[in-house]
Amino acid sequence: MNNDVERIICSEEQIAVAVKQLGARITEDYAGKRPVLLCVLKGASLFHADLIRAVNLPCEVDFITAKSYGMGAKSSGKLRILKEPDINICGRDLIIVEDILDTAVTLSALIHTLLESKPSSIKTAVFLDKNIGREKPVKADYKCFDAENEFLVGYGLDYAERYRNLPYVGVLKREIYE
Ligand code: PRP
Repeated sequence: MNNDVERIICSEEQIAVAVKQLGARITEDYAGKRPVLLCVLKGASLFHADLIRAVNLPCEVDFITAKSYGMGAKSSGKLRILKEPDINICGRDLIIVEDILDTAVTLSALIHTLLESKPSSIKTAVFLDKNIGREKPVKADYKCFDAENEFLVGYGLDYAERYRNLPYVGVLKREIYE
């Protein structure tokens, strides 16, 4: 599996430091609050698991699975929710936890959909910000790393459902997906 990776862009050690720093920021920003950290499955699962342990607050955790309609050129921006959060988020401070922000079609639609449940606030925490191919004007409130426009795998990111369990983020060799 490691042989399929051309180079590592975030090592296990760098990830640990960045996630701990982000957890400390969230702890400070939400002092006295009880935010809900909502993991967007499946990609954000590893980041979410590490982040919640770095947040020193009586937070709650939940999960959502959503697929955007037409992720291609003609996205409607509408979401199909495959798994709803269990917690009633009305009046809650919500932090959406995502592994990667790319076109922002997913996050933009997710925010739009979740606002219908009237949370008291919504912020976004993304592990990687690929600020190149944005189709929607969404900015991450919190992020760990910026990323180039490369095919990235590991730490939750997949290619055809593989490589999510790599403990680092790396660039997938072109010959694997071409
Ligand atoms: C990935 C990622 C984000 C989305 C980002 O999810 O986890 O949800 O794509 O891309 P965007 O900014 O262009 O919308 P994916 O649909 O691959 O599902 P997964 O999390 O199960 O891998």
